[in-house]
Amino acid sequence: MTSLEGRLDDLLREDRAFPPPETFRESAHVTDDRPRESAESDPVAYWERWAGELHWFRRWDTVLIWEPPHARWFDGGRLNAAFNCLDRHVDGGKGGKTALIWEGEPGDTRRYTYAELRDEVARFGQALLDLGVRRGDRVAIYLPMIPEAAIAMLACARIGAPHSVIFGGFSPDSLADRINDASARVLVTADGGYRRGGLVPLKANADAAVASCPTIEHVVVVAREGRPAEPNNVAMAPGRDVWYHDLVARVGAGCEAVPMEAEDLLFILYTSGTTGKPKGVVHTTGGYLTQVYATTRWVFDLKEEDVYWCTADVGWITGHSYIVYGPLANGATILMYEGAPDHPDRGRFWELCEKYGVTIFYTAPTAIRAFMKWGEEWPAGSDLTRLRLLGTVGEPINPEAWIWYHRNIGGGRCPIVDTWWQTETGAIMITPLPGATDARPGSATLPFPGIEAAILDDSGSEVDAGYLAITLPWPSMLRTVYGDDARYRDTYWSKWDGVYFAGDGAKRGADGYFWVLGRVDDVLNVAGHRIGTMEVESALVDHGAVAEAAVVGRVHEVKGEAIAAFVTLKEGRKGSAQLEIELRAHVATKIGPIARPEEVIFAADLPKTRSGKIMRRLLRDIADGKALGDTTTLADPAVVETLKERYSGQEG
Ligand code: WTA
Repeated sequence: MTSLEGRLDDLLREDRAFPPPETFRESAHVTDDRPRESAESDPVAYWERWAGELHWFRRWDTVLIWEPPHARWFDGGRLNAAFNCLDRHVDGGKGGKTALIWEGEPGDTRRYTYAELRDEVARFGQALLDLGVRRGDRVAIYLPMIPEAAIAMLACARIGAPHSVIFGGFSPDSLADRINDASARVLVTADGGYRRGGLVPLKANADAAVASCPTIEHVVVVAREGRPAEPNNVAMAPGRDVWYHDLVARVGAGCEAVPMEAEDLLFILYTSGTTGKPKGVVHTTGGYLTQVYATTRWVFDLKEEDVYWCTADVGWITGHSYIVYGPLANGATILMYEGAPDHPDRGRFWELCEKYGVTIFYTAPTAIRAFMKWGEEWPAGSDLTRLRLLGTVGEPINPEAWIWYHRNIGGGRCPIVDTWWQTETGAIMITPLPGATDARPGSATLPFPGIEAAILDDSGSEVDAGYLAITLPWPSMLRTVYGDDARYRDTYWSKWDGVYFAGDGAKRGADGYFWVLGRVDDVLNVAGHRIGTMEVESALVDHGAVAEAAVVGRVHEVKGEAIAAFVTLKEGRKGSAQLEIELRAHVATKIGPIARPEEVIFAADLPKTRSGKIMRRLLRDIADGKALGDTTTLADPAVVETLKERYSGQEG
């Protein structure tokens, strides 16, 4: 855990505590530890109470069937996630409440009430049925941050077709791999989406991907501007491609929500692991909805009049759980924004907060560090006094960024919830409850009521610093890896018996608080995005000049981690600034711009153990410019010295 030591040192010096402000506590849903205690004494009954707040077509027979590592929650129960997010509120008299406020990057806006959103979702659900999509069929979604992204997800849920959302920044190859792994029948995309003033050519990427996706029968294309852009920049394949607006214009809003089994698939979401192939994380309906509903309510202290903004992209789990399913299941008013935080200038987020009266704001530490760098004059230029709660997710937050966020965005009066969770956990797991828990900058504090976490060593004994583990099954846990249950068992459940291995290192304070330190496996966290080192390495060796590649993360001021790629070249090839640019671009084309290495270091050789394993720890130290640790196990110690010299030479 060498790379984590620096952070550990920082945190050990951190002793500031921020109790919930009295004015906040006065009206908070949870104000003390009693819910935690009652959940602890009977977690199953506790989760059953939460599930009881949702709408079920049929009540469950059993709350939990746990045959490690497989759980069934609310077995026998039938519900529909879209019904819970929409119809339940419309039927309950809230049809006129604003569900979704959307602003495009160019400044265009749209608003949907719960009744309007329900009807649009029903229309698109019917359109999917008309295209031949049946319950259980997978639908791939590759969209920008436009309302149709949420609409498409909910339409799938309505008709019982699991969705697989693929982040709009992924390349055609990454899109094709994910479509093929899930054998999706339909792909929903758009003619483009705005990012920093330019239109991202999603349809062109989709066309390139679908050329190698035999299971795709139709591509539905949303016109970003409501009508196809003129002159029409999109090629529509006859018989295969259909415009979204043509489809929904043909149908009514009568499509009813299908009662799904609690354990029916709600969605698949691909995430990076330690091999070159991303994992299709499987989430089912009843348990997932129960936990995203509960956590949204308590962690964000959500009230009827809140305007809630989570800045994530729907292509990631945060967008699934805390833009779409959690807030809408709670009947909240959500804000969705299409574009970049610095377009047209660095005050855009704060203007949005002021304009729409945002009260709850949830973002990532990497964004906060960028705001810090841009300077406090940007938020100071907008009225942020409506904000009452702030959140962070995606990576450890450094105390300095926490304090800056608290002061400059929260005006010193808003509690901050630092929420630890993962694509696999589906919902928030470790977090303060803002009216009850004293916050400590850099700590996600304590498990959400009903969740049991621990820090274990290799043998499974509890320790102060070690691996983060979840010791009880939880409702929104992943159920398997799509099509690969062996990988599910192996990745998460093989380290200890019946205990979940999260892949993070953590330490525990004397007060029981959890301090998550970062990944302990070969997964990088670049600007809050999970990227497998193997994926980047495969993309590099795919280039004709590269013989071997080893990718590590190095400390980066804004992104948290940046990708450093050590590369050896084939006979006769020579490293050059031009080749470095080419290799970085190659990775961006193969995977997506988020995986583009920050730097490529050409090496004559990579440091290996005598058994041939690349010593990443040493490469990380070299990339971070640190003193080298133990090199005695190296097959050829001279290799690192040469590399180190070269590296400092290259930098200077
Ligand atoms: C990291 C995002 C520290 C962690 C919801 C985890 C965090 C990975 C935090 C999951 C946090 C997320 N403090 N680290 N509050 N939240 N992480 O699947 O390493 O994209 O394993 O899910 O992000 O990333 P994922």
